[in-house]
Amino acid sequence: MGLVRLVFICCFVFVYGENKHDGSIKHDDPMLNTETPNYKEYCVIGAGPGGLQIAYFLENAGRDYLVFEKDHMAGSFFQKYPIHRRLLSINKIFTGKTNKEFNMRHDWNSLISNDDSLKFGKYSKEFYPNADSLLEYLNDYATKLNLKVQYNSTMHDILKRKDGLFQMWDQHNNAYTCKYMIVATGVSEPIAPKFAGDHLIEGYENLSTNLSDYKGQSVFIFGRGNAANDVANFINGVTAVVHMLGRSPTRLA
Ligand SMILES: Cc1cc2nc3c(=O)[nH]c(=O)nc-3n(C[C@H](O)[C@H](O)[C@H](O)COP(=O)(O)OP(=O)(O)OC[C@H]3O[C@@H](n4cnc5c(N)ncnc54)[C@H](O)[C@@H]3O)c2cc1C
Ligand SMILES: *[C@@H]1O[C@H](CO)[C@@H](O)[C@H](O)[C@H]1NC(C)=O
Ligand SMILES: *[C@@H]1O[C@H](CO)[C@@H](O)[C@H](O)[C@H]1NC(C)=O
Ligand SMILES: *[C@@H]1O[C@H](CO)[C@@H](O)[C@H](O)[C@H]1NC(C)=O
Repeated sequence: MGLVRLVFICCFVFVYGENKHDGSIKHDDPMLNTETPNYKEYCVIGAGPGGLQIAYFLENAGRDYLVFEKDHMAGSFFQKYPIHRRLLSINKIFTGKTNKEFNMRHDWNSLISNDDSLKFGKYSKEFYPNADSLLEYLNDYATKLNLKVQYNSTMHDILKRKDGLFQMWDQHNNAYTCKYMIVATGVSEPIAPKFAGDHLIEGYENLSTNLSDYKGQSVFIFGRGNAANDVANFINGVTAVVHMLGRSPTRLA
């Protein structure tokens, strides 16, 4: 009987709006009540695909906005994930049609813009591209379209003040106020279900990417989402058996 390797594929949860404040403000900031330091009409937190796309529309509409990104680049999720680097989103360059709308609907990677050089098909010809291509694409998207992104800015303690404005701080405790707050921080925290033997599982974020580690093994994967499929596809050729367990049938985008 082969060794059983338990692989826990993390599910991620949204950690939006974890309200630690309930109106009681711990920051001892004299500006908090009336002044509006670093005011922007629109604040967007996160320069992933979501934050960049909304920034594009705000930029085009001439709005007063700023995107705050904790990393030093856009699309930072794709620096590490998917860990096996092969995108699950297909790069459908040839559709048999010339209709731009039709083609865009079949393009899983491009963001919307008026710049034809910003079609993902210009960045990779592979059907399942390397994630580095998406990282390059997203950073070009931010730069070429002059999107206002302030990098190295980790925002915390977002709250709504009595005067209706939102306020938040970066890691150096510089305060920012905004009329509208758009949170595009994506998915961030693994969910680790508790059960007997859960100490034996390995999280997706920590998995070995060395195929030799999976040779001849029987692998049990908890989950059937992006992370689970990323791993299953990668190890399938060397394992004895791969079992996947999901709480619902696989749904494709
Ligand atoms: C394992 C896995 C594989 C995937 N593979 C693919 C794929 O192949 N193709 C595909 O299209 N999609 C894939 N996805 C889905 C894709 O990752 C998401 O749909 C996409 O990243 C969501 O974009 P987003 O902008 O909402 O969030 P994110 O891309 O997560 O961006 C959020 C941004 O917010 C920043 N941020 C977070 N907190 C703060 C803060 N407090 N202050 C400032 N900035 C902050 C982060 O640094 C990050 O840059 C995959 C997902 C997973 C889990
Ligand atoms: C962000 O920080 C990194 C180091 O962590 C630095 O190399 C980079 O120049 C900084 N970028 C900006 C825009 O401040
Ligand atoms: C991943 O590794 C880190 C550090 O090695 C550890 O703290 C964490 O518990 C691991 N996560 C999982 C889900 O195994
Ligand atoms: C992968 O693992 C095998 C066996 O443990 C080891 O011999 C090999 O050096 C590893 N390869 C890499 C790239 O780490």
